[in-house]
Amino acid sequence: MADRLQHEQAQREAQRQAAHGVGIEIRGLYKLFGPNPSLHIDKARAGMSKTELNEKHGHVIGLRDINITMPAGCVQVVMGLSGSGKSTLIRHINRLIEPTAGQLLVGGTDVLAMNEADLRAFRRHRTAMVFQKFALLPHRNVLENTVYGLEIQGLPRARQVEAAMRWIERVGLKGFEDRYPNQLSGGMQQRVGLARALTNDAPILLMDEAFSALDPLIRIDMQSVLLDLQKEIKKTIVFITHDLDEALRLGDRIAILRDGEVIQQGTGQDIVLRPADDYITKFVKEVNRGRVIKVETIMEAAAGASPSRVTVLAGTLLEEAARRLTESGEQTLHVLDESGKVCGRVDMQRMVAAMVTPAGGH
Ligand SMILES: Nc1ncnc2c1ncn2[C@@H]1O[C@H](COP(=O)(O)OP(=O)(O)O)[C@@H](O)[C@H]1O
Ligand SMILES: [Mg+2]
Repeated sequence: MADRLQHEQAQREAQRQAAHGVGIEIRGLYKLFGPNPSLHIDKARAGMSKTELNEKHGHVIGLRDINITMPAGCVQVVMGLSGSGKSTLIRHINRLIEPTAGQLLVGGTDVLAMNEADLRAFRRHRTAMVFQKFALLPHRNVLENTVYGLEIQGLPRARQVEAAMRWIERVGLKGFEDRYPNQLSGGMQQRVGLARALTNDAPILLMDEAFSALDPLIRIDMQSVLLDLQKEIKKTIVFITHDLDEALRLGDRIAILRDGEVIQQGTGQDIVLRPADDYITKFVKEVNRGRVIKVETIMEAAAGASPSRVTVLAGTLLEEAARRLTESGEQTLHVLDESGKVCGRVDMQRMVAAMVTPAGGH
């Protein structure tokens, strides 16, 4: 009886989440560290600075009034310098940290209202984590590390192995199942970390600086692996980084933190084209704009024209569009919408102008 009720409840929950997706909604979130946070929350709300609250009242503002909507199936990047509150924020999502104030909804469910048992189930089945230091078990080989989550869930061994082997293969580690972590390079160890997280089959992937410990080329490889997988898995991924290039490459949306506050959020293009303040302007100054700005952002009207020799789809980045135009020897290209109709035109001069950092930038 209890089983049936539980099953029905799980089914309703699954239907609801299928309808809405497992997005993450963070509203008015505050975190104060110290012996008596609730005593001082009003001062933080009223705008007392981090320094003043620390010096006068001995409490550290970890997060202040965070509001972020992370749509289901998207990669949400949270970026900021060391100490800006990134880890504090991501650890709230599976309630490894309790907020001082605010709301947290995951797939429409109020995570802060969950009891111990619900929370344990939520952590196990709805979220998976990938760590910067890999956090592999040294005495377990690749396969045994990868099945770990399913083992804890108590799945039959055959299903554990079947799922694990599938993801081991997808991250490019087929043939390495019997190796131990100390026999693998950093990049390969993080592939195991990713395979282990994916094997859990949770809709949410939490990645705190997951690629930050890797050498630059390996790191770019891992970004490609993740982007490639995401086309298929469409999970809600929260990806923490302090690296702008990584943020722009991976993030469908980016939130930038400073001193525990979100100072700008939007698409990479929003942030590069309209940096909210001097701090972000400095950050985006060195960015390769050709790899961020899309052709439709700068196109001129040409609806109804017959396609010229060179055409690119809306969504193509300027760097790629410029390359195509250069190769063709033409001066102008047409931008096509999804249905293949011309929706605009861009010439080379316009593209080059958009790729150069505007004068007066810091
Ligand atoms: N348990 C804690 N107690 C006191 N202060 C903390 C604690 N955890 C984090 N902080 C402070 O909160 C701020 C944000 O830290 P963190 O989230 O780790 O930053 P990031 O991950 O961006 O480097 C820092 O000022 C840090 O010192
Ligand atoms: Mg951190």
